[in-house]
Amino acid sequence: MTTLLAVVPPFIARLWTAPLGEHAPWLKLIVEGQDEYAPDTIDYALGFRPPPGFFKTLPNVKAIFSLGAGVDGFLADPEFPRHVPLVRFVDHTMSREMTHYAVLHTLMHHRTQRLLDAAQKEKQWRQGFLPRRTEETRVGVLGLGEIGTMAAERLRDLDFAVSGWSRTRKSVRGVETFAGTEELPAFLAQCDILICLLPLTPATRHILNKETFAQLPQGAFVINAARGGHLVENDLVAAIDSGHLAGATLDVFETEPLPATSPLWTHRKITVTPHVAAMTDPRVAARSIADSIARHMKGEPLENLVDFAHGY
Ligand code: NDP
Ligand code: OXD
Repeated sequence: MTTLLAVVPPFIARLWTAPLGEHAPWLKLIVEGQDEYAPDTIDYALGFRPPPGFFKTLPNVKAIFSLGAGVDGFLADPEFPRHVPLVRFVDHTMSREMTHYAVLHTLMHHRTQRLLDAAQKEKQWRQGFLPRRTEETRVGVLGLGEIGTMAAERLRDLDFAVSGWSRTRKSVRGVETFAGTEELPAFLAQCDILICLLPLTPATRHILNKETFAQLPQGAFVINAARGGHLVENDLVAAIDSGHLAGATLDVFETEPLPATSPLWTHRKITVTPHVAAMTDPRVAARSIADSIARHMKGEPLENLVDFAHGY
């Protein structure tokens, strides 16, 4: 029987094993930390932020499935077995939820919703906050992958002036595209709202730093829904406090959960959400993993493989 090891906290294991058992009764499911097993009997494994050094202990594993779109949690492990295929979670539902988050927080800022919330608290009928014309509001998306492309397209459909930046050149209808580090300054110079949807890799770590912020137009707004490691938090606070940036929405943090002592919690121009921009739907992920294993067992290639050279 083909064996799939779930490397997830045992208290949430049923979230994954229940739909997997339903969809793939032919798989023998084992939960790390709960079931006894011999490491050399494991054929496939799934997880999200595995303990460092864990996956090298499975000598016969044929592929590892990430329960998230981002795989930085795996690649942070210097001992991760790089000869084993690592499959990212890619699905329309994930891209859609991330897109909703990007659109929601773009509109919250664009429509000055936080100021209206504050006015309501004071029972003030304040009609003075007129948004900048939508067509003249330039939204830039860092990362034009599965998620960034959908977010750019939806924002374009709302009539924002949308641009995007990626490593290799992309073509997205109605979106101005920029590529590579040499085009990053030109991209940043025209972003009234900057949305980070990049993977965390050595090339993108701390990309949201003081030099980047200085290149954004005066009054720009920053949304980071990718990874906390993209952002230098102190640089963001300094750029907002100096008046250069208007504010930020952050879903991800260098340390998660965000410590109670972090000044980000109480900054009046920063909205904090607890890494909830999108959640992997276990039913969708279970089906996708089971189908991939079935195809792989028939000798077909795996899809959505991580390119270890680029780190995403
Ligand atoms: P993809 O791999 O599909 O897309 C990544 C994009 O980033 C690509 O366009 C890629 O360029 C670009 N990119 C990568 N490295 C660079 C670089 N050095 N310079 C310029 N562009 C670069 O990823 P997804 O869209 O699926 O996911 C993006 C990230 O979103 C995840 O890695 C994860 O961190 C985050 N995420 C956060 C969630 C949350 O709840 N907060 C939920 C889900 C994901 P190219 O197209 O040329 O390859
Ligand atoms: C992901 C996440 O990468 O939830 O999927 O952060």
